[in-house]
Amino acid sequence: MSKEQEYFEVNRALWNEKTKHHTGSEFYDMEGFLKGNTSLKEPELDLLGDVKGKSILHLQCHFGQDSLSLARMGAKVTGTDISDDAIAYAKKINEDLGLDATFVRADTYSVPQEVEGQFDIVFGSYGVIGWLPDMQRFADVVAKKLKKGGRFIFAEFHPVMWMYDYDFKQPAFYYFNREPIIEELQGTYTDREADIKMKEVGWNHSFGEVLQSLIDAGLTLEHFNEFDYAPYNCFSNTVEVSAGKWQLKGMEGMMPMMYSLKMVK
Ligand SMILES: C[S@@+](CC[C@H](N)C(=O)[O-])C[C@H]1O[C@@H](n2cnc3c(N)ncnc32)[C@H](O)[C@@H]1O
Repeated sequence: MSKEQEYFEVNRALWNEKTKHHTGSEFYDMEGFLKGNTSLKEPELDLLGDVKGKSILHLQCHFGQDSLSLARMGAKVTGTDISDDAIAYAKKINEDLGLDATFVRADTYSVPQEVEGQFDIVFGSYGVIGWLPDMQRFADVVAKKLKKGGRFIFAEFHPVMWMYDYDFKQPAFYYFNREPIIEELQGTYTDREADIKMKEVGWNHSFGEVLQSLIDAGLTLEHFNEFDYAPYNCFSNTVEVSAGKWQLKGMEGMMPMMYSLKMVK
């Protein structure tokens, strides 16, 4: 097994375990979701627009809430993820809700071999590229799976956020993609006290790497925006400054916390 495959297996085990804690969490509010709430947030909804009748490939879909929110909006959705448990759960909710999304367990780099065809939209959000070592290979997957004229729509946490230690007191990691970041953390973002202590492997990707990789893959930038809040309360030391918008306590409004982009093939 290559070093990269070893790292992916570490993360696959981690996300299988996380999924067990996430599905019933307040954070993901499954009850509200089953009743019809969308899990999608304003930044990506603004870029997605009307998706009725569009084919969408949702990369790293976790246990499928966003994919199924898109299916409820009338899109024909395929969600992919490395986690067996997340994909199994997504398939179950899809069936329970009588929706017609397709879910495939696959690591993102293998998606071209595992999923047939090309899509109107490739979508990803909040915590995607940090699990991948090579941004260019991600960008090539996106480009390969898009129809000519199709759009890549992406909402992601800001690379500056990943430079900091967990309390956001000081920089602790390279801004640039210098090395795998291997850690063993307690809990998960839906519950910091959860009984999980497992290894994880991540990578930081600077804006230069993100944008140039997508451009080199043949995409053209149509929209790019940075935000001073996170639409998920997944970081430590946060304060909800308005409904569904979290900033870092003591640095309210000072930090870039996420970005969104739309690119066309
Ligand atoms: C933070 S979640 C994405 C957030 C998602 N928008 C949600 O609904 O919460 C990250 C996802 O990436 C997946 N993942 C991690 N490494 C991966 C890889 N190499 N290939 C595909 N999926 C991967 C995990 O299993 C997890 O479901």
